[in-house]
Amino acid sequence: MRQVKIAPSILSADFARLGEQVKEAEAAGAHRIHIDVMDGRFVPVISMGLPIVEAVRRVTSLPLDIHLMVVEPERHIEAFMEAGGDIINVHVEAATHLHRIVQQVKGTGRLAGVCLNPATPLSAVEAILPDVDQVVVMSVNPGYAGQPFIPSALDKMRRLRRLLDELGLEVDIEVDGGVSPETAPACVAAGATALVAASAIFNDRASVAENMARLQAALAEMRA
Ligand code: DX5
Ligand code: ZN
Repeated sequence: MRQVKIAPSILSADFARLGEQVKEAEAAGAHRIHIDVMDGRFVPVISMGLPIVEAVRRVTSLPLDIHLMVVEPERHIEAFMEAGGDIINVHVEAATHLHRIVQQVKGTGRLAGVCLNPATPLSAVEAILPDVDQVVVMSVNPGYAGQPFIPSALDKMRRLRRLLDELGLEVDIEVDGGVSPETAPACVAAGATALVAASAIFNDRASVAENMARLQAALAEMRA
């Protein structure tokens, strides 16, 4: 079985204590830190940009997984790589020349990901699969943390995993949106190898360590 990477999304972190929260996630076994960049155009709201990426870069050595929910991503990828991004994810719906963007990212030695909104068919990324390191399957409509998981994402992940296996490609399937101890096992069973979680990790109900432990326990249970 493939390793499953946990990618806490700082979108629901306490920004007044961001450094601490990221360190807590790292100490609790996070594999990467997911940073949601929203421009108020591709998605309705504005979230965070370069200064936050730079700040997170200073407090952790974990890979930074940058999720660009922006129009014209080609105008921004360079800056986010320079700010410390290790994995650069762009939406296929926003990129006219997706192949060029992926080549640019790969050319710097970084990892390239392509993201699919819930209503975007798998066929939109088929041609680019041999060139990418991960596909991000959105299991919510991007824009906000704390939305419920859209179950049809499971079928998309299953079909994508089958396609990758047929093509003999080692590509991560990262699932993003509504991931929790309740929904994560089904995602992994469907072929996900990376789990993004914001509100299940950073919330008022429990500590980051406790929330990470719950997610890890749910995954361990399905493997037992
Ligand atoms: C949604 C973002 C997600 C978000 C997930 O637009 O891309 O990464 O932070 O939040 P949860 O895990 O709370 O659904
Ligand atoms: Zn995201």
